[in-house]
Amino acid sequence: TQPLRLGIAGLGTVGMGVIRIMQNHGAMLAARAGRPVQVVAVSARATGKDRGLPLDGYAWETDPVALARRSDIDVFVEVMGGSEGPARDATLAALEAGKDVVSANKALLAIHGNEIAAKAEAAGRVLRFEAAVAGGIPVIKALTEGLAGNQITRVMGVMNGSCNYILTRMESAGLTYEEVFEEARALGYLEADPQLDVGGIDAGHKLSLLSAIAFGSKVDFPAVELEGIGAITIEDIRHAADMGYRIKLLGVAQLSGRGLEQRMTPCLVPAASPLGQLEGGTNMVVLEGDAVGQIVLRGAGAGSGPTASAVMSDVIDIARGTRLPTFGIPATSLVAQPAARSAVP
Ligand code: NDP
Ligand code: HSE
Repeated sequence: TQPLRLGIAGLGTVGMGVIRIMQNHGAMLAARAGRPVQVVAVSARATGKDRGLPLDGYAWETDPVALARRSDIDVFVEVMGGSEGPARDATLAALEAGKDVVSANKALLAIHGNEIAAKAEAAGRVLRFEAAVAGGIPVIKALTEGLAGNQITRVMGVMNGSCNYILTRMESAGLTYEEVFEEARALGYLEADPQLDVGGIDAGHKLSLLSAIAFGSKVDFPAVELEGIGAITIEDIRHAADMGYRIKLLGVAQLSGRGLEQRMTPCLVPAASPLGQLEGGTNMVVLEGDAVGQIVLRGAGAGSGPTASAVMSDVIDIARGTRLPTFGIPATSLVAQPAARSAVP
């Protein structure tokens, strides 16, 4: 059987998580994929850095575009990050060179996903990005596989762990937004540009990808109504608690008479509901389908192991020969219908 050969661009939190799974579970992955899965080549900026695992068996490329074009890889795994520059160039180069692509890069896909998907379809290649939405929670596969028999009526959720950490810590410790923001930064929870987290932009990127999959539309990040958590005060949180509510940065996407509505804004949710009970850096995604009703998925939205878990699910799908279009069902399924009326869970 032909092995599936990977080129991994990025050896940071996620990339090393992927390498760890590959090194620890080679036989299990091969059995599940129906063929061996191998890392052939890798790319990062700093050479000679101790990354905690042996990397000497892999070919090294400092230029991710060169990695993407190597003739000895089948799948380009983009876990570098960045919405422009090398990540975009290398992803497009990989598709042009006839490689399938697995990406964790929500910023890149929210901004350039339509262009990249068009390139994948023109090249007859597969582009998968389970890790880009809610990290380790297999929400894209839940939509495209488990709920394939449903018209999805609404998707919603808490998709940025840093914001949920800040809001829940403000509440439990009685600290101000500014105090918890600095604490989160010191703990390394925030993106290099923290505005991506606290401005709701990162969560908005994820919601735009999830909406496209759920409703068969193009990715439309500019249409997401965005409001971050920077203006939330401890008094807001206390008043909400007095009324039996908690404040969450909640994403909602649903079809209405006006078309697809997408918003990522601070919302009051009932404290006793699953979303209201979500603590710390955890994510929760709620999916609603016309046949199934409501599904609630909860888990780690970030971190080395959880995010690599999602990357590997895409790799195994490709090894098995699963060939879905990038954003699932075609856009013609996007028909206006009354918004779902079920309550926020
Ligand atoms: P890190 O910053 O930990 O790692 C990035 C890696 O990419 C590093 O190895 C870095 O090299 C390499 N790299 C960056 N720029 C270049 C370049 N121009 N040329 C070659 N190599 C480059 O990022 P993460 O692992 O945290 O994130 C990777 C991706 O996964 C991002 O898109 C992120 O949004 C996404 N993601 C991350 C999650 C997480 O929990 N961390 C969760 C979900 C998605 P070097 O090490 O030499 O600096
Ligand atoms: N900054 C993101 C978060 C990382 O806090 O959820 C995972 O995408």
